[in-house]
Amino acid sequence: MRTYSNDTMTNKEIKINFQEFSSFEELDASDRTLAEAAVSAQKGSYAPYSKFNVGAAIRLSNGKIVSGANQENDAFPSGLCAERTAMFYANANNPDEAMEEIAIAGGQDGNLCDSPATPCGACRQVMAQYQNKSGRPMGILMVGSKKIWKFEKVEDILPLIFDSLKK
Ligand code: THU
Repeated sequence: MRTYSNDTMTNKEIKINFQEFSSFEELDASDRTLAEAAVSAQKGSYAPYSKFNVGAAIRLSNGKIVSGANQENDAFPSGLCAERTAMFYANANNPDEAMEEIAIAGGQDGNLCDSPATPCGACRQVMAQYQNKSGRPMGILMVGSKKIWKFEKVEDILPLIFDSLKK
């Protein structure tokens, strides 16, 4: 290992906390409903290029569930992930409701992947924005058929989050 002459340098560590479940049955009723809504939202996926169908479902602070799915385009950057489709719809139609939790499910040919669907960096950044806007933590449920991961807030999946207002 390289040694530094600067004795003010310290090594830091970031720990991520999350829960792992092995089936939908292990989830509490509201998480289970949201996970099932994300799976069902996969039906709205339009993915002629990747053939990877992603669904996202968001539980709002009024209890309503809204969903979205990935939409692809011939001009590749014009498409959008399921999570952002769902979040933009949620905020466009319910601007005063906090997004309490978002569930994500991915798979092919009507199937759900075994491992949890993990959101891309751009979607995480958008989650951070809406969490900040509402001032309430947004939970994230990454759904797979063999494993489900639950995170309590966006910081847990986007450490050192960008915040232009930070002092
Ligand atoms: N995709 C999502 O919808 N969400 C993610 O978090 C990652 C990727 C979509 C984008 C594209 O339509 C397909 O999955 C393959 O990358």
